Amino acid sequence: MRTILRIAAFFLTVCMAMTGITSVSWAQESNVAPAINQNFKSTELDVEGWATRFTGESREAFNARMDVLKALALKPGDRVADVGAGTGLYTRLFAQAVGLTGRVYSNDIAPKFLAYIAQSAAKDGLKNVETVLGGDRSTNLPDTSVDVIFHSDVYHHFEFPMTMNTDLRRALKTNGRLYVLELAKTGASASHVRAPKDVVIAEIEKSGFRLVEQVNVPGLRENYLLHFRKAGG
Ligand SMILES: C[S@@+](CC[C@H](N)C(=O)[O-])C[C@H]1O[C@@H](n2cnc3c(N)ncnc32)[C@H](O)[C@@H]1O
Repeated sequence: MRTILRIAAFFLTVCMAMTGITSVSWAQESNVAPAINQNFKSTELDVEGWATRFTGESREAFNARMDVLKALALKPGDRVADVGAGTGLYTRLFAQAVGLTGRVYSNDIAPKFLAYIAQSAAKDGLKNVETVLGGDRSTNLPDTSVDVIFHSDVYHHFEFPMTMNTDLRRALKTNGRLYVLELAKTGASASHVRAPKDVVIAEIEKSGFRLVEQVNVPGLRENYLLHFRKAGG
């Protein structure tokens, strides 16, 4: 009986790999970084302080933002999710790139960050920005609703990375693109960042994506930008 079950599981795995179908549930996934979002989850969250920090001249994700934006090749009308948007550094750039026919979903687990984004978008007249409160295991974005998902400096903040990757796949349209801007696990970031690039790629591919390329972005040295598509459409 056990042999039959093993053979059935083997064929199921082969079929899923061949078709790219990954209806895998990561319900049992344990928290890989329980304390990493402590600051962002605090009711004392200093939003202005983080806004200053996220837009600091010493921060590569800030300095290289225009090159990163260009690499994403967003078009007017695109629906883009900025997952783990923080104080909206990329949300604001995306809102201008996709125009009034497009939409930017600013997603985060910190309600105070989202309130700050909503307020600054209103002040800047960005009418195409919508905030979406997510949780540790889900963005809460609707199924197959976005053309592009982007996250910057967020992958190592996912406490349940496989569950989140699968959720991102769920929210992405069939031909949608996922871009991951992540800190390399080297130098000053070595202890803060959980996984090196090859592990990040392996985890995301295991969640139903295929790597298209590592995008060459001129201003990136401490970070890398990965472009994925949904495996199996
Ligand atoms: C280092 S900040 C980066 C902020 C912004 N992306 C930037 O580059 O300026 C990481 C962000 O990820 C958010 N975050 C952590 N886990 C998340 C999850 N499961 N879903 C959405 N956002 C998450 C945090 O609340 C925080 O705003």
